[in-house]
Amino acid sequence: MTAQLIDGTAIANQVKEEIKEAVARMQAEHNYTPGLATVLVGEDPASATYVRMKHRNCEKLGIRSISHVLPADTSQEEVIKLVASLNADPEVNGILVQLPLPKHIDEEAVLNTIDLEKDVDGFHPVNIGRLAMKGRDPLFIPCTPYGCMVLLERSGIQTNGADAVIVGRSNIVGLPMAMLLQKANATVTICHSRTKDLADHIRQADIVVAAIGWANMITGDMIKPGAAIIDVGINRVDDPTDKRGYKLVGDVDFDSAKEVAGAITPVPGGVGPMTIAMLMKNTLHAAEIALAKK
Ligand code: GUN
Repeated sequence: MTAQLIDGTAIANQVKEEIKEAVARMQAEHNYTPGLATVLVGEDPASATYVRMKHRNCEKLGIRSISHVLPADTSQEEVIKLVASLNADPEVNGILVQLPLPKHIDEEAVLNTIDLEKDVDGFHPVNIGRLAMKGRDPLFIPCTPYGCMVLLERSGIQTNGADAVIVGRSNIVGLPMAMLLQKANATVTICHSRTKDLADHIRQADIVVAAIGWANMITGDMIKPGAAIIDVGINRVDDPTDKRGYKLVGDVDFDSAKEVAGAITPVPGGVGPMTIAMLMKNTLHAAEIALAKK
């Protein structure tokens, strides 16, 4: 292995330790405790696991958390009514509606309802708009791309003037990641499933962010020697040797990529732990905003 391993678990633990200290300080100095409300509609097992992990992390850091689980057939009006009640609740600083929502619910209508100052996912169009614009800053940065930026910073990877290629154009990762890297003075190319000559684009990049949801798609031969590789993918592939019958792999073929890259995140243990750490950071920030208004 030639690449530096970017240890997302260790960096996330550092970030969470800093948050835990800041929460304790807020309680001691202002008698105020940050609060996060989650909304889960339906029983998708992966979503339920993610939400459970979010609550467990809140508990560890001293953040109050309130869970709302609604049946899969809940109407859009009822979800919006719940979000409106959370907007009005002074005990709630952050609101997280777990995505994806069931098909009969208009995601945009629900996300637009979240109070801008409680939008800890950073998915409100005003927050995304500010992220896109020069000289403007969003109140909250979407958690996964925010985590990727912290991984780069804390691993000493320069973004200034770097050529960055993002593979994937989702609202949750690809798009905000591109805007963040651009704000950090990288020259950004967004590639996706229809990109011609994808490998040629990737081969030019000093920084590659893979977020396309395609197991082991980026291989070592597509990578510029010394490049930093941030793998957002979490894909299940059959593995009869594992007792679950599957293993988790990224969008990057780790074994071949690590021989060429300068730095690389593993899957699991790379970007995944950072997403939750940044949600905790955004929740703390939401509490700071609320406290400043008191
Ligand atoms: N589903 C997958 N990733 C996310 C995320 O970062 N936030 C929410 N709310 N839902 C998700």
